[in-house]
Order: sequence, then C-alpha cells, then structure tokens
Amino acid sequence: MTDRGEDSRYPPVNEVGEILVATDDLQRRVAELGQQITNDLAGKTPLLIGVLKGSVIFIADLMRAIEGPVEIDFMAVSSYGDATESSGVVKIVKDLDGHIAGRDVILVEDIIDSGLTMAYLVEYLAGKGPASLRTCSLLVRQGRTAPGVTVDYVGFELPPAFVVGYGLDAGQRYRNLPYIATFLPPDS
Ligand code: IMP
Ligand code: MG
Repeated sequence: MTDRGEDSRYPPVNEVGEILVATDDLQRRVAELGQQITNDLAGKTPLLIGVLKGSVIFIADLMRAIEGPVEIDFMAVSSYGDATESSGVVKIVKDLDGHIAGRDVILVEDIIDSGLTMAYLVEYLAGKGPASLRTCSLLVRQGRTAPGVTVDYVGFELPPAFVVGYGLDAGQRYRNLPYIATFLPPDS
C-alpha cells in the first residue's frame, strides 16, 4: 500500500485544514436526501442534472441512494471573474445532452456561495419546459441563498471558509478527498 503522504498526486497536507464534514456524515446525509427524493418523486423517473465538475462525486452517490429509475445529465458552466468569487455572469460551456421538456428535473450543485450559478441555471432550465424543477445542493454557505430560488434539498450549511473535497476543488485539486475540509492557501 502506498502511504498517502508519499503519493506525489497529493499536494502537501498542510493545504488541507479542519474537516468540516466527515465521510460518514456525508454518506448518512446523502442517503437521507436520496430517500427524500425517492419519496417526493415516487412513480416518476427523475432526471438529475449535475453541474460539472464539482457535483460529480455527490451526484454519483446521490443517484445510488435513489430507489427506482433515475437518469442523469450534465452541464458545465464557467463564471467570468476570479477563481473564488462568482461574478454572476455565467457562460454555458457544456449544454445538456438530452431534452428536458416534460421531465421531472433536479438540478444538482456542489455548493451555493453567491447563488448566482444556481439562479442562472434555474432560469435557463425552467425555460425548457420541464414538468417540474427542483434544486439540490450538497452545501450551502451560511446565510447565502440563490436569489429568487428555493433550494429544495440541502446537505449541509457551512461557515464562510473556502472548502475542498468530495468533488470540490481548489485549482482542480482535492476533489478526491472523501470528506469536506477547509482549504488553507499556501501562504496562510
Ligand atoms: P456561486 O455562483 O457563487 O454560488 O458559486 C458556486 C460555484 O463556485 C460552485 O459550484 C463551486 O464550483 C464554486 N465554489 C464556491 N465556493 C466554493 C468552495 O468553498 N470550494 C470550492 N468551490 C467553491
Ligand atoms: Mg461548481
């Protein structure tokens, strides 16, 4: 077995701070969300739309926590502006593969910070005539909401710190950590 600390794919561990959501808490909460979605959409075939790339780990676990038929699709967006603050101007980099008219759609995000990405995508998807449109985010930063949007399924509320793990990155790294931890910039 390779010791994680000697694995050159992993950056210096001092960039990863306090664990805010442990692996078993993630698993338990994702199972609960899957059960809620199963109940809320009984008899339907929900279409989960994941926002790349941050939602990939979450959506993979979430879909397996849903009983019955479920489909997934993905969108990729980039927000203009610097790396850690959303500008609110969202550009669609990868659009849906399939049609969503008449479908029971659940938009799946990793985290709501300003909420502008979620708000933009809800408006975009609503315009395509889904039968229903729900929203789900693994994380919501405390005190934040997506403007004009109710987030139907929330995993955890988080303090203001920038976080990594379970799909969330800092400069594309740390997505593979099995927990959510604070990110410590190199010179902090
Ligand atoms: P919003 O449009 O400001 O809500 O930005 C949401 C997007 O910013 C998320 O989907 C993430 O990709 C990214 N983001 C916001 N906060 C964090 C964080 O703490 N860690 C990693 N990515 C984040
Ligand atoms: Mg994202």
